[in-house]
Amino acid sequence: MAQKYYQTREVSKIAGVHRDTLLRWLREGKIPEPKRNRNNWRIFSPSDLDNVIEFTNQIKEEQPPYIVREPSYSDHIVKLQSIDWDFHDANTNYLNHSIHPYPCKFIPQIPNTLIQELSSIGDTVIDPFAGSGTTLVEALRLGRNAIGIDANPLSELICRVKSTKIEQDACRPLFEMAEQFSNMGQTLSSGQMMLFGNDYFKDTIPGTPEVDSWIGDWFDPCVIHELSVIKDRCLKLEDRKIREIALLAMSSIVVTVSRQDSDTRYVRKETKILPGDTFKKFASSLAEAVRKQIELSSEIPGNVVSTVIHGNILEDIDCPAFNLLVCSPPYPNAFSYHLYHRSRMLWLDMDPAAFKKEEIGSHRKYSSKGKNAASIETFSDELRKILSWVSRKLRSGRHACFVLGDSTIKGKAVKNDELLIEIAEDIGFSLEANINRNLKATKKSFNPKIGKIKDEHIVILRNDTEINDAKPGM
Ligand SMILES: C[S@@+](CC[C@H](N)C(=O)[O-])C[C@H]1O[C@@H](n2cnc3c(N)ncnc32)[C@H](O)[C@@H]1O
Repeated sequence: MAQKYYQTREVSKIAGVHRDTLLRWLREGKIPEPKRNRNNWRIFSPSDLDNVIEFTNQIKEEQPPYIVREPSYSDHIVKLQSIDWDFHDANTNYLNHSIHPYPCKFIPQIPNTLIQELSSIGDTVIDPFAGSGTTLVEALRLGRNAIGIDANPLSELICRVKSTKIEQDACRPLFEMAEQFSNMGQTLSSGQMMLFGNDYFKDTIPGTPEVDSWIGDWFDPCVIHELSVIKDRCLKLEDRKIREIALLAMSSIVVTVSRQDSDTRYVRKETKILPGDTFKKFASSLAEAVRKQIELSSEIPGNVVSTVIHGNILEDIDCPAFNLLVCSPPYPNAFSYHLYHRSRMLWLDMDPAAFKKEEIGSHRKYSSKGKNAASIETFSDELRKILSWVSRKLRSGRHACFVLGDSTIKGKAVKNDELLIEIAEDIGFSLEANINRNLKATKKSFNPKIGKIKDEHIVILRNDTEINDAKPGM
């Protein structure tokens, strides 16, 4: 019969010792290290377990009590478990949450509820997969400082714009710009004005991606002309905050005016974008973005700050310590942002190829048939790196919340919540709650490999590691 092995969390349970204490004893050499399995996780044989039990009993006699910390948020966790997380009839597009499309973003009610229950005013909340900045916006509104990290350069722009306070007066050039483009759009639509001669796009258009086969395949000539003028005008705005709002408004309409089927399908379709349409869409998107940004700004208290970092979370990013993490991480086969955001990125002079290399979970990496195709082990290793980083930056005793669905990898179902919890517990987190959330029938998350996802999990972990860059009690 095969020998039974125990995982760290089982040993800590059987021996009645906190897993942090157990890990510390191992580090200090007070009990011998057990073997490790192919995932590099400790596996304890029955005699390893006996060693732990013996040492625990010895310590108990010498200096009881030895268990360290009581959970301080237990009432809040109980409350979180009783909430109806479906938020079926809630308005999810308030304030600036919808000024730019972003597939697979979570509804703002999720970070809002978690932030209210698991942090205090003045705390710092991080989203290491910030996407369209949902967590950042909610954190700032609730009087928390916000940190957002994302490897997608488009996310950096969206987050920076959406989490920046602006004054009504400073936005005057943007309202004027919106009006001018609306008027130009009307004039072009009525056929009273031609923007450029038909030969114009034979050459490189200043400040736009080169007129190569890509741009010709995906955009009508009249759209290329109008987007070029819009981009040129945006880049001439001197104030960075103002310029970035205008560029974001341009980016927000790129897919609608292209031949790309939608934000979640990178296939070509016939479009009927007429002269003047692109100007008019830009004008209304810009005016709306500015209005919503001003509205949000009036809700953000003066003393909170937002920090947006463009970077790959697997590269040990340097950032301040935080009190709460709330995110919806990328997971295998869920999406390919580098692909679906390609047109927007190229119009913004961003590099989709560089992001492609860093993107976690992309459908492209997991559906590849080559020997370097990503697998469940790839994702496990990435989760381990991410959680180790979080354990060093998140203050001890505080929480990390992950909202995630399941994956299918090469036809095999993978329960991402279980994988995350197993790795997290091995690193030194404790599971506080794993809440199941049904997705609205009409608003299910999209997963190209397995279609619509019907439900997802909200996994709440507590950082119980003792050795940490961030000191406890803050
Ligand atoms: C599900 S989305 C997050 C959406 C976000 N919760 C929102 O509401 O907008 C996952 C994000 O992970 C980002 N991402 C993928 N790989 C990454 C990496 N290696 N480092 C940092 N971010 C990454 C993607 O760019 C994407 O924005």
